[in-house]
Amino acid sequence: MAPNTLRDAIYAVRTARLGLERRRLDYGEETREQAERLAAVLPASAAELREYEREYEDLEWFHDTYADRVAEIHEAGVATDTTHWRDGVTLYVVCRALEVETVVETGVLFGSFDAHILAAMCENGGGTLHAVDLPGGPPGPFEYGHLIPDRCRDRWELHRGDARDVLLGLLERVGPLDLFLHDSDHRLPHMRFEYETALGHLEPGGVLASHDVRLSRLFDRFTEENGLQSCVVCDTGIGRVPSSSSAD
Ligand SMILES: C[S@@+](CC[C@H](N)C(=O)[O-])C[C@H]1O[C@@H](n2cnc3c(N)ncnc32)[C@H](O)[C@@H]1O
Repeated sequence: MAPNTLRDAIYAVRTARLGLERRRLDYGEETREQAERLAAVLPASAAELREYEREYEDLEWFHDTYADRVAEIHEAGVATDTTHWRDGVTLYVVCRALEVETVVETGVLFGSFDAHILAAMCENGGGTLHAVDLPGGPPGPFEYGHLIPDRCRDRWELHRGDARDVLLGLLERVGPLDLFLHDSDHRLPHMRFEYETALGHLEPGGVLASHDVRLSRLFDRFTEENGLQSCVVCDTGIGRVPSSSSAD
């Protein structure tokens, strides 16, 4: 079997296994424990993080637009499994706690995570999200980032290209980063490539975040090998580079 075919076959098996694991996972409990898990990693207490969760729930300007756009995507019948969008709140809380200024994300599609990161930036009152996705666009009559509310769009810069080709140059131009988020190609060599490329461009105290970390042990191993404190909430891994100050 050719190496790429073998990799695709392994990826298909991992994805199927993840589907089964997700059915067993208690997402309600994961969400309830979110603040405690994140507090072990972030420079904020569980009480402060729960306050950001409440703030997110009350963010009417965000939820009104977001719900309308989700409905448009569902009506067009082009996104059948959008359950992972629940992870957006984790990213919102992380971005509020870190008061992120510079964020890079790979894998935009409809932009659920972009919308949440940008909403936090709006509430922070600053920041830019650089987002990478392949040339082309999402399925249906939509552009990349359709879910992003208009009021956040001026903080968003889309870079089209394969992350393998554009990520390093982008990081060199815009870094150091407060947060890097992987959500593009989840085959292990690509995930590892993105983690390794991003790690050297994170600020002390910055966060390496990744979606779909339950596909394999890669995120846990990578954060452990590189001395990052980490936790997983639902399907998102959060790993923090040690801060230069001992205070947090
Ligand atoms: C799971 S979706 C991203 C979902 C998105 N983060 C959200 O919040 O809804 C994966 C995206 O990664 C993009 N992608 C896949 N391989 C890529 C690569 N090598 N470089 C850049 N983007 C890639 C796909 O085009 C797709 O839009």
